[in-house]
Amino acid sequence: MEKFYLTTPIYYPSGKFHIGTAYTEVLADFIKKYKKLQGYDTFMLTGVDEHGQKIEDKAKDSEMDPKAYVDIQANNAINLWKKMKIDYSKFMRTTDDYHEIAVQKIFERFLSQGDIYKGEYEGWYCKPCESYFTETQLVDGKCPDCGREVRKMKEEAYFFNMKKYADRLLKYYEENQDFIKPEFRKNEMINNFIKPGLEDLCVTRTSFSWGIKVKSDPKHVIYVWLDALTNYLTALGYTSENDELYKKYWPADLQIVGKDIARFHLIYWPIFLMALDLPLPKTILVHNWITMKDGKMSKSKGNVIYPEQLIERYGLDATKYFLLREIPVATDGVFSPEEFVDRYNYDLCNDLSNLLNRTISMINKYFDGLVPNYNGTPNEVDETLENDAIEVISKFEDYMNKYEIANAIQSIWTLVSRTNKYIDETSPWALAKEVDGETEEDKVNRIDKLKSCMYHLVANLKQIAIMIRPFMEETSDNILRQLGISNNVSWDSLKDYKKIENIKVIEKGEPIFMRLDQQEEVEYIKNLMKV
Ligand code: MSP
Repeated sequence: MEKFYLTTPIYYPSGKFHIGTAYTEVLADFIKKYKKLQGYDTFMLTGVDEHGQKIEDKAKDSEMDPKAYVDIQANNAINLWKKMKIDYSKFMRTTDDYHEIAVQKIFERFLSQGDIYKGEYEGWYCKPCESYFTETQLVDGKCPDCGREVRKMKEEAYFFNMKKYADRLLKYYEENQDFIKPEFRKNEMINNFIKPGLEDLCVTRTSFSWGIKVKSDPKHVIYVWLDALTNYLTALGYTSENDELYKKYWPADLQIVGKDIARFHLIYWPIFLMALDLPLPKTILVHNWITMKDGKMSKSKGNVIYPEQLIERYGLDATKYFLLREIPVATDGVFSPEEFVDRYNYDLCNDLSNLLNRTISMINKYFDGLVPNYNGTPNEVDETLENDAIEVISKFEDYMNKYEIANAIQSIWTLVSRTNKYIDETSPWALAKEVDGETEEDKVNRIDKLKSCMYHLVANLKQIAIMIRPFMEETSDNILRQLGISNNVSWDSLKDYKKIENIKVIEKGEPIFMRLDQQEEVEYIKNLMKV
């Protein structure tokens, strides 16, 4: 069985995650479940990034010991992922012993190889980003990443010799076209950071103590990004005696990160791996952000939405659907209450829920709930539908291979629309009616067409149920249950139109999504944002 190892960033456990933060996780979870359905042996890593000054300060604010503080926060993250049915394989905590030991070993190895050297650092430090910047990197005297105040700091420190690897990194980018997705992120790295000259990276701090100590010089704490990035290896047991997972799953097949942390993953991370003489991940996917109409989500603006709030009112499936469909990976996506309610009403209720409902009621009406078997010779209309559906499935697979997620989701809805259109094309209500003076042969033909129509509706709904399964599992189960099809489905059966036999739909269809009152719900969501 082919393996598929994918990772999300490890999150700062410093407060509640809003829908933006949850997006990375929803995206990764969807891809993982899709790969699993396709038969891959998947491993998905997520977790929390617990060290650093920011966390130390937050703990202080709450008058807590940092470890006690992160214990609570890590638990909150675990609970949220449980609520969102995120199917990770391992939840990583950077305060775990094995990770700390491995990071120390990695640091000492870099030191002994001469990749890390001791020097003195003076620069502009952004506390929220835990990053140093040179004068020229600042934007209007502020942090180029988050736009906040920076302050001048000086300290004895260890440095990683990034310059040494710059050419090798460029060559790697060039020779491995799948390494960075989308492609424009690669050019961004080359033009903004590598070509102007890579600075050596300061990899220790002495200004605070909440972190992993350098083994050979314990007054230094290892820079939180060196600590955090290596989690992708240490989580699998790298450098420990129990490294079976590492041997099985490394290199990662897909690492997903938000655009704000692209630089760390596209420059420092591959260089650390080169220094460790390890293979690089096959693909690093950089996604854009969910913003609001008035820009970035922030408490002070009063425009924050938390996933729990949407899930509680509209369900998990609708929430995931919206996030994945509306947020293109390569540009920012905007969350608006109007759009959310529209998508719910149009896509989920009108298009999908009604398609299921109409199908079930017609099969009950015309065939007492028994789905006619495939007749072996589809007529022209049905054959066109089959071909269209198979084309959509191929398109979906292509998009998924390129990690164009919103396009992939949208393509499923082209199949939903196509199937709705098929009902209009075939007019089953007319086929069900006796025609004055029709011959016995005409009658047989008419009924055959009606049977074939019902079969094709069920077959397409089954396809849709399988395709949405990785992100709308409950809805998928619900559709399959109402159709009388087992939910033990696989991707393989998707393109075979002859696979459904002797099934009976439920007697009375149950709507899977009910129409929302547009005005009322938009108001409701707007009020949530104010809290
Ligand atoms: N701890 C680091 C990652 C270390 S990985 C070795 C970190 N954590 S984070 O909690 O700040 O961010 C976690 C993820 O949430 C990142 O991928 C980030 O891009 C993503 N997002 C945070 N806000 C977001 C939006 N508004 N929209 C989409 N994703 C966003 O960074």
